[in-house]
Amino acid sequence: MNQGWFVTGTDTGIGKTVAAAALLLQLRDQGRHAIYMKPVQTGCDVEGATCVAPDLRHCHRLVGLPPVSDEEEDCCPYRLRMPASPHLAAAREGVTIDMEHIIAAHRRLQERYEHVVVEGAGGVLVPLNDSLTNLDLMQQLDLPVVVVCRPGLGTLNHTLLTLQILRKAGLNTAGLVTVDTTDAPWTDIEEDNQATLQRMGRLPLLGRITYHPALADESAGPDILRTCIQGLSV
Ligand SMILES: Nc1ncnc2c1ncn2[C@@H]1O[C@H](COP(=O)(O)OP(=O)(O)OP(=O)(O)O)[C@@H](O)[C@H]1O
Ligand SMILES: [Mg+2]
Repeated sequence: MNQGWFVTGTDTGIGKTVAAAALLLQLRDQGRHAIYMKPVQTGCDVEGATCVAPDLRHCHRLVGLPPVSDEEEDCCPYRLRMPASPHLAAAREGVTIDMEHIIAAHRRLQERYEHVVVEGAGGVLVPLNDSLTNLDLMQQLDLPVVVVCRPGLGTLNHTLLTLQILRKAGLNTAGLVTVDTTDAPWTDIEEDNQATLQRMGRLPLLGRITYHPALADESAGPDILRTCIQGLSV
């Protein structure tokens, strides 16, 4: 088993945090020592003197971990307030996102955990600063990449584009995860998309996360998440 994954997606709000939590939950259910990392979080909430990373909180709730960890600095080294692309949110706060800082935090986590599940901010070509994107970060971390995509209309173009650029960059694409972020029932389109993505994307569909209202309002914990995971055996 590998040291973790980099979880990216075809867009923001596509289900990356939920998919990352599902991977983490399965590892932890097997007794593995595994942790979640979100190198750059924008749209943070300020609670007193702390800048709270919503994805870290959400992921921890989904896997049944305490909301705050004493490793938060490493799990989320860049916590920015503006709900925008990392390069813009950082510039607004006079911060420059430094790749080396992220890599050092990741290395420290890797030394303490068997697996680190890393979630990127938005999609593959989202800028982190004036010159680097998530793709550069993925190359540096060199983890197998899981691509989260929606099951319905539009996913073929977005997912195949994402896979093409990942491969061109020499990254190891582990597979796809589809996430039903709406309760729209599956039709022939979603069924065909699954088959087409695997055939034309030349990679496996690792699993699907089905819709649940408690995932939609972000109140779900591990018991509900487990019921929504199809496949995805790590
Ligand atoms: N299976 C599901 N059923 C219902 N709602 C879901 C499901 N999966 C995700 N959601 C909801 O959809 C929204 C987007 O999901 P999520 O936060 O995982 O996306 P993301 O790709 O991580 O977004 P971001 O780019 O902001 O990090 C969240 O409110 C989440 O709780
Ligand atoms: Mg997220």
